[in-house]
Amino acid sequence: MIFDEEKYTLGERNIILRSAHEDEADMLIDYLKTVCGETNFLLVNPDEVKYTTEDEIKFIKHHNEADDSMVMLAFVDGVYAGNCSFTTRGSSRRARHRADIGIALFQRYTGFGLGRLMLED
Ligand SMILES: CC(C)(COP(=O)(O)OP(=O)(O)OC[C@H]1O[C@@H](n2cnc3c(N)ncnc32)[C@H](O)[C@@H]1OP(=O)(O)O)[C@@H](O)C(=O)NCCC(=O)NCCS
Repeated sequence: MIFDEEKYTLGERNIILRSAHEDEADMLIDYLKTVCGETNFLLVNPDEVKYTTEDEIKFIKHHNEADDSMVMLAFVDGVYAGNCSFTTRGSSRRARHRADIGIALFQRYTGFGLGRLMLED
């Protein structure tokens, strides 16, 4: 699902939330390696992030094209700060309500309300 660009302010910071573009695949892989090293709350260590550019393009494409999944990027004052993704897990009618939510911000962008904004938006 494409998430059309939305603008917010959090204190002095200008926030943009929008879907990922396919040419941002490498940026997302680098980000994942960094955030996985900044916190133990994510599921893998940085050296276990093995996605290729092609894998990441597939991830972006899938989330942009599916009607029930989405990846949302956050930019703070024009700088990429992290993302939040919703990925459905069940294909049967009984399981269609199931979904994985992944959210991670670079550490320097945590603690001022961005995570809440992304989840509530
Ligand atoms: C978790 C994360 C997305 C939260 O975003 P954030 O912008 O830092 O959070 P916010 O400033 O919007 O805070 C929202 C609320 O969540 C709470 N919160 C934030 N991080 C928390 C954490 N790790 N554990 C418990 N509560 C947390 C805040 O205290 C705040 O609660 P309050 O409104 O009652 O004061 C962000 O800190 C992050 O990316 N952390 C590293 C990656 C991670 O842990 N991802 C989740 C893996 S399951």
